[in-house]
Order: sequence, then C-alpha cells, then structure tokens
Amino acid sequence: MPPSKKSRAPRAKTAAPAATTVTVKTGDITTTKSELVVVDAFEGVERLGGVTAAVDEATGGLLSRVLAAGDFKGKFKETALVHPSDGPAKRVLLVGLGPVEKLTPDRVRRIAATVAKRARDLGVKEAHVVAPGVGRAQSRPQHGKPVDGGPHLDARVAGEAFAEGALLGLYRFDHYRGSPDSDAEPKKTLARLTLVEKDASHAKALRDGVKAGAIVAECTNMTRDWQAYSSGEAAPAEYGKRAQKLAKEHGLKVEVFDKKKIESLGMGGLLAVAQGSVREPRFVILEHKPAKPKGTVVLVGKGITFDSGGISIKPSANMEDMKMDKSGASAVAGAVLAAKRLDVPLHVVALMPFTDNLPSGSAYKPGDIVRTMSGKTIEIINTDAEGRVILSDALHYAGRYKPDACVELSTLTGGCPIAVGHHIIAGMGNSDELMLQLRQAGDATNERVWPLPFLDEYGEMVKSKVADVKNSAGRIASSITAGKFLEFFVGDHPFVHLDIAATAYHAGVTPRFNDEYSPEHQTGVGVRLLAAWMREFEKPAWKHKGEKPDSGKPKSKASRQDGTRAGKGPRRVATS
Ligand code: BES
Ligand code: MN
Ligand code: ZN
Repeated sequence: MPPSKKSRAPRAKTAAPAATTVTVKTGDITTTKSELVVVDAFEGVERLGGVTAAVDEATGGLLSRVLAAGDFKGKFKETALVHPSDGPAKRVLLVGLGPVEKLTPDRVRRIAATVAKRARDLGVKEAHVVAPGVGRAQSRPQHGKPVDGGPHLDARVAGEAFAEGALLGLYRFDHYRGSPDSDAEPKKTLARLTLVEKDASHAKALRDGVKAGAIVAECTNMTRDWQAYSSGEAAPAEYGKRAQKLAKEHGLKVEVFDKKKIESLGMGGLLAVAQGSVREPRFVILEHKPAKPKGTVVLVGKGITFDSGGISIKPSANMEDMKMDKSGASAVAGAVLAAKRLDVPLHVVALMPFTDNLPSGSAYKPGDIVRTMSGKTIEIINTDAEGRVILSDALHYAGRYKPDACVELSTLTGGCPIAVGHHIIAGMGNSDELMLQLRQAGDATNERVWPLPFLDEYGEMVKSKVADVKNSAGRIASSITAGKFLEFFVGDHPFVHLDIAATAYHAGVTPRFNDEYSPEHQTGVGVRLLAAWMREFEKPAWKHKGEKPDSGKPKSKASRQDGTRAGKGPRRVATS
C-alpha cells in the first residue's frame, strides 16, 4: 500500500529555497558600493588597523567613534552597525574576532555564520565582506598595547571556513512550512556574499577555499534535509528514489535493492527489523568511482526511517526525535556526494540500509533468532536495539569492496549522550591509526571524535547462549557493547564505528553542537568530518589475519591511542 496516497501528511515542497552564493572579488572595499560592508577587529585593540581603518576613513570615521566610546570591544562575535552619510557603503558592520591568538578556522566559521545571519535579518540582498584574518601582519604590540594586525590565516583555509560557516549558518528547513500567507513575516533571503580582497594572489587562494567550503556546506545541508524528512517522505523507498535522483544529477553510481533482492542476498537482519512495517526496506548503494583511485573507503550509515522501538516500544516522551534515526545514512549520502564534487581520488562507497522499526502483528520479537547475511546469528533481546541488527548486514556487505578503511555512522545508543554529552562523537574500532585520522579530521572540522575503551572484555558481554551474539547487554556500557556487536560483523579491514546519537540533532540541549552554524534541529554531523578525512586519506596500516581483527593492541609503532605518533609529529590535516 503506498502510504503517501492515503496520508494527509504535507508533502515537502520540491523547489529548494533560493540559495546564497559566496564569491570572491579582487578590489578595494573602500570604494565598493554595497548595501552592507562588513569589516572586523580583534579584541582589545586601541585603534582600528588595516582595511578596517581604511573603510572607517572612507565612511566618515563612525567606527572609530564607536570604538572610542567604548561601545565595541572586539569580543568574539560582538557587532556594531553604523549608517555612514558618506562613502559607497549604505551600512557598515564591525564584527569582533575575539583575541588575536584565538582566531582559528572554526572561529572564522562562527563569525561567518553570525555575519551572514545578521545580513539576512537586516533584509539586504548582498553584502561585501573582508575575509577575517587573511593577509594581516603578525600582531605587533605598540606601546605595550596590541594593534589590530592579527594572525595570518592561510587564505584558502580562511575562504573555506568562511563559505562553510556562512552557508551552514543560513540553513533553514522550510519544506513543511504551510502556505505562504500563513507566515507572519515574509522570508528574507540573502542572495550574495562577496569577499573582497585587494591582493590578487590571496584572491585566488580565497576562491579555491570558497569553492570547497561551499561544496561541503551544500552537501551538509542536503544531509540535514534528508535527516528531517518525515512520514511518507521518510519511507525507505523514498530514500531509494532520492539516491537515484542524486546519482543522476551528479554522476554517482547507484544501486537500490528492493525487498526481493534483499531476500535473495539473505540480509536477515534488515528483513527482521523491516517485517514490522507495511513499508518495504531498501538497501541503497551510492558510489564515487574515479578512474585511478588511490584507495577504497566504505561508509556505512544507519537508516532507520522511524524508530518506535518496535515491540520493545519506547516511552512516548521525545519519541518524535526518532525520525532522526536515519542521520547516519543521511550523513554518508552527503559525504559520498562531497567526495564526488571535490574530486577526491578515492573509490568511495556509501551503504545505507533503510527501514522503519515499528510494532505490529508481523513485527520481530524479543526471543527471535535472526540469521544474517554473514551466516552469523543474533538473539533478539530488545527490538529497540534495531540499528545494530540492520548494520550487521551492511557491515558484512562492506567486505565485498575489500576496503582500505570502513567507517560507520549511526545514532546507535541512548547511552552515547549520557557518556559524553553533546560535544563529541564517540568512536570505537579496530585500528588506532584510522581512529587517529578521524580524530584529526574531527579537530579540523569541529566534529570531534573521542575513542571509548574498546577492550575484548566488552565483547564477551554480547555473547548469547542460543545464538552467536545477542543484540543487547543492557544499560551498562551500552555504547561500547553496541560497538562490539558491530565489530563482530566486520571483515578483515580497518574499521571505526562513530556513534552520532549525541550530535546528530539538537533537541533543546544547551550548549548545542556547533550552534552558530547548526541553527536548526538537524546538524548534518559527519559530512564535514568524512569529507576532511577523505581529502587527506592515507591507507591505515593493516596486517591481514585469519579471523577477527584484534582490537586491543596498537597495530603499529606509528600510532597510539592518545592521538600522538611515536617519533613523528602529528599527521597533517590541512582542511580548514
Ligand atoms: N535510535 C536509538 C538510540 C538513540 C536514543 C539515539 C536516543 C538518539 C537518542 C537506538 O535504536 C536505541 O533505541 N538504542 C537503545 C538500545 C537498548 C534498547 C539496548 C538504547 O541505547 O537505549
Ligand atoms: Mn532503537
Ligand atoms: Zn534506533
């Protein structure tokens, strides 16, 4: 029965809202005619410097007066808006960069998001901005007081961070907002943000950075949409169609397995969870396959289109958030698209099992024993531990590609936010080197990864008396035992599981995850992390062995659990 025909749920609008473009212009911002010019200053400066001083001079010195009056201190994200009577700019916004030594690429993202949202709220259609931190001299204190000079951020890095932060910050999810007249205020849209740079060599680097940052932000925003679809549009079959459309538009390879194909492959885990729903499951594969790939990575994402818990039903409080249980699959779809659009020289495969988890007369039950594609069997203790059941097949399937690395993302356990709060992605795996790579990509993107202890002893906890493994070991160390369950289905290759249950969406939590540039419920976590990791990819060392990878000990002297490399400096992660 196609539920969309009977359903009264609103259909998402098909036309995406007009997107903002970020461009770079070589020129002199003091003579640029604009509705809004944005300049910046570091915290604690006594006098404005550089371009900011030049703009101030060209617009009648209003900014210096704000500074002299003590109404602007340059604190991080602080703003002052002036309306000069002279000069080509209708408005000038001065934004605080915070202390000189603290200006990181992530701060540039946050400032860009702040500036972009302010410009939109002002109702302007375009704004011209000086890229924060680019091309400044080293800070030279004069008379013991710091002068605006600031750190020199690499122009490519700054451009990338700026575009990323602005476009992520401007994200809105308007698909289900009723008729236009039901909106109290008409939606404001910022059409264009232009970075103005007078040094042509910087402009070129800025442009390269902006291009990459915009791609990564757009892919993240797509993932956010995929996370947020509800009801009929969140049906497994809809994700199959969405993947096909994406593949067609961007030249990705796609395969969508329907129930029959899933049965013929023997994916008993996916079928068991799906049997409680009238909607059939899908197993979706998206691939970016360049001509001469330097390696193969498989990305696996949990695609539970709604997690009610099944027969082991969840309490109703906050159950609505469980439409976000497809965040892992949404993230790997965004990541493979990013790999394609960024021309990453790797064969990238995204595997996405999609199904509802619902109670019904045909639903799988506690006590059931499920035979998975690998031949390994699962004793079902709790039907709410469904993610690992569908992932067992996807992780086994990943072995077909003989990957150099397999990274899996899932909103897997309620225990994850309990253990680590909302700032961190919990990581577990069999390769310290792969973990280190992901941690470095996490630091570069502020989608930070932290390893949980992953001793073999935790694996003992998911052993079953009647099957090979059981799907729940109870509340104790639940995130880790879930990770150990997954590892049981992983082939002979480096593997990391990332539990994104705490970072995939905001549900009134404070402080929120990257809040300036994750303004809505769904964060799109994972796309930027995986993109940064793939762009810097090096095959992690791996000693093939017969059966199960041994996870307890370091694989090589080159990598250690504490994030350092013996005898070497930290591995470089250049992305922002
Ligand atoms: N999708 C949930 C995990 C989850 C909970 C994500 C809250 C985000 C917020 C998962 O399928 C689940 O229900 N896990 C259970 C497993 C338990 C029954 C063994 C959990 O962690 O509570
Ligand atoms: Mn569940
Ligand atoms: Zn779930």
